[in-house]
Amino acid sequence: MLIKSAEFLKSVADTNFYQSNMSEIALVGRSNVGKSSLINFITNRRKLAHTSSTPGKTRLINYYLVNKSFLLVDLPGYGYAEVSKKEKTNWAEYLETYLKTSQNLKCVYLLLDIRRTPTNQDEQMLQFLYYNRIPCKVIVTKIDTLSRSQVNNQLIIICNKLGLNREDIIITSSADKKGHKELLENIEHYVNS
Ligand code: GTP
Ligand code: MG
Repeated sequence: MLIKSAEFLKSVADTNFYQSNMSEIALVGRSNVGKSSLINFITNRRKLAHTSSTPGKTRLINYYLVNKSFLLVDLPGYGYAEVSKKEKTNWAEYLETYLKTSQNLKCVYLLLDIRRTPTNQDEQMLQFLYYNRIPCKVIVTKIDTLSRSQVNNQLIIICNKLGLNREDIIITSSADKKGHKELLENIEHYVNS
């Protein structure tokens, strides 16, 4: 798949989700994992999605229209420490409502930082997606931050924790532009599914 165009479409802060008949591909993962960076990487645009080293930057659901034919959906990150318990519950419910009710949701990419052991929240998210029969795929981010052998070690830890095989995971670096071809092939597969 070639990316011919990409534009910001809409931000949504309530359950009034964007309605269309276009395929949606959503990105979830803990705060700061690199969701917004991955959207820029996928679309070859430096500043389409706002990135930040401060966790919790994306607090809305942001829709991006790609090739005027499908939507990339940047979901709010979870696991952000500096919010109240009540706010955390609201976010979780909000995410779940989007994931359960979006009729054209073709795939959810769960992003994991290669340097971190998946958290219980990551595990719960994956279980939630399996349980609700939402197609999903794990993407590991930031592989530029580790050596090749460290990457392999971390992949073993991630696979063990989440019960995955190595082939189930797409490994990427937005910074070093690694994994672009595999990502686009995978997106194309799901968009047309
Ligand atoms: P929230 O919106 O808070 O949920 O975060 P996010 O998941 O959208 O993360 P974001 O894309 O804003 O990136 C967080 C930080 O990680 C930023 O400082 C990015 O520059 C950095 N980052 C993202 N991808 C990579 C990568 O591939 N390599 C490296 N080294 N840093 C990255
Ligand atoms: Mg973000």
